[in-house]
Amino acid sequence: MLRVDKLTVCYGQMQALRTVSMEISPGEMVALIGGNGAGKTTLLNTISGLLTPAAGSLSWEGKPLNGLAPDRICREGIVQVPEGRKLFPAMTVEENLIMGAYLPTVLTESQEALRQVYDIFPRLADRRRQLAGSLSGGEQQMAALGRVLMARPRLLMLDEPSLGLSPKAAEIFATIRGLNKEGLSVLLVSQEVLETLAITAHGYVLENGVVALKGPSSELLEDPQVKTSYLGR
Ligand SMILES: Nc1ncnc2c1ncn2[C@@H]1O[C@H](COP(=O)(O)OP(=O)(O)O)[C@@H](O)[C@H]1O
Ligand SMILES: [Mg+2]
Repeated sequence: MLRVDKLTVCYGQMQALRTVSMEISPGEMVALIGGNGAGKTTLLNTISGLLTPAAGSLSWEGKPLNGLAPDRICREGIVQVPEGRKLFPAMTVEENLIMGAYLPTVLTESQEALRQVYDIFPRLADRRRQLAGSLSGGEQQMAALGRVLMARPRLLMLDEPSLGLSPKAAEIFATIRGLNKEGLSVLLVSQEVLETLAITAHGYVLENGVVALKGPSSELLEDPQVKTSYLGR
């Protein structure tokens, strides 16, 4: 479905990603793990079209994505929940959700999409008229995820959705898992390595901009290098 082939991405002289390759199949949930500064956000931003690769290619269902503007990539159904949620704090929860449905392809269905998001997150329905900035961290993550679901994604990319949420992280992981079970393809970036490998089919470990390890998540969980570097055992 998504193919990332030998991608190199630079910030000025600094190579943040070097010949990174990755594949995501339809309906699959893939983990992208790695420490701070490994290049996880850079990869998501490049797939979203926010950064232009210095080399390598990206394709979606066999069609090249290179050079497409971010809004065109969104229209293909590839959407990202950014690191740090990035809600509009002075707008209500519902106004934030509606912002996710601005694409012409989904605008006419926004009321239906809103009902579905409130079905998934009843707490957002209760707080629909509350300002997003007044929500708890966990509720803000739900709102950020709900806003992206309004765009009817086909590939959902999540950048550290559980950051700062423990012990509430389990709830957001359960929701993500539920969405994947219903058929949504997911690329999950997280530093909660154990939880992330437990709910994904495949995983990639990024270190200093290169893929250091990849494989079935069950195998990565047993990998000695993963155990010492990320699981502390
Ligand atoms: N806008 C930027 N300008 C320059 N360097 C950046 C920028 N964003 C990230 N970097 C650098 O690129 C590397 C990868 O960063 P990032 O993709 O944010 O890593 P991660 O998400 O895995 O923590 C880091 O060394 C970081 O300092
Ligand atoms: Mg990051």
